[in-house]
Amino acid sequence: MTRVCVIGGGTMGRGIAGVAAASGYEAVLVDVDQAALDRARDAIALRLERDGAAERLGAVTFSLTIEDAVPGADVVVEAVPEILELKQQTFARIAAAASPTALLATNTSTMSVTRIAEGANGSPRVIGMHFFNPVHRMPLVELVAGEQTSDATVDDALALARALGKEPIVVRDVPGFVTSRLGLLLGNEAMRIVEEGIASAEDVDKAMKLGYRHPMGPLELADLVGLDARLNNVRSMYEQSRLEQYRPPAILERLVAEGKLGRKSGSGFYDYGE
Ligand code: NAI
Repeated sequence: MTRVCVIGGGTMGRGIAGVAAASGYEAVLVDVDQAALDRARDAIALRLERDGAAERLGAVTFSLTIEDAVPGADVVVEAVPEILELKQQTFARIAAAASPTALLATNTSTMSVTRIAEGANGSPRVIGMHFFNPVHRMPLVELVAGEQTSDATVDDALALARALGKEPIVVRDVPGFVTSRLGLLLGNEAMRIVEEGIASAEDVDKAMKLGYRHPMGPLELADLVGLDARLNNVRSMYEQSRLEQYRPPAILERLVAEGKLGRKSGSGFYDYGE
């Protein structure tokens, strides 16, 4: 495998393309939005420079069209927004353009890989490769084997994750996999504790940092991820699992409705000033 095509040049897609380039791959990044590609190029250039690999920027190219970028890729990683229909449509286009041997991965954080793969006619080459933000720093890749995913595909994805310098785990295709199932649960409970007036956001975060050695508290983390993105993820988990513990907390719905989206908007569970 030498050429990686990443679809969606947002937070995750640009991070994955940057790590691929830094790891010796040729990378092509696709987005429907030229402005997103321009921002992605700047972000990748800055990251490679900081990591002492500025010369690898030449390994990254940019495209507005899946049909132009996907042929010739050994690996395609989809990182478009977390909307099932969009992911299925994207996989239909990817599968139509890709080499039959290409590894086809989705970076979904909550959705069924089996359902997403339906867009690619249930291809055995489709697998979940769940990277974490920021991609260059977070060592985990959660590989999600859908019902249709072949063993050879799992092996190829394990090899790719390691070649990208990541530590993979392999999990079954259930809503939220392992990481979102646990992480969203902790976040929801932390939010309900604040909502019920049991403790302040500061003290909830302090509890988990000092009592459990979490590097960040669950509410600081939610503010960092973005409360709108978090709300989308818990909604998706709740819709799929129907488990009460994943119902979006009222305080999260309220903050998002007020435009308090966490760090990026200046306030969320905390105030960040301007
Ligand atoms: P984002 O909103 O930052 O980026 C998505 C990009 O996809 C945008 O630049 C958008 O213009 C582009 N796009 C939309 N439709 C497209 C299409 N049809 N073809 C090509 N590009 C298209 O989203 P983000 O945060 O990067 O998330 C992407 C995926 O990664 C989602 O499935 C999300 O659940 C998952 N994820 C996100 C994490 C995070 O912390 N942000 C962590 C792990 C997974």
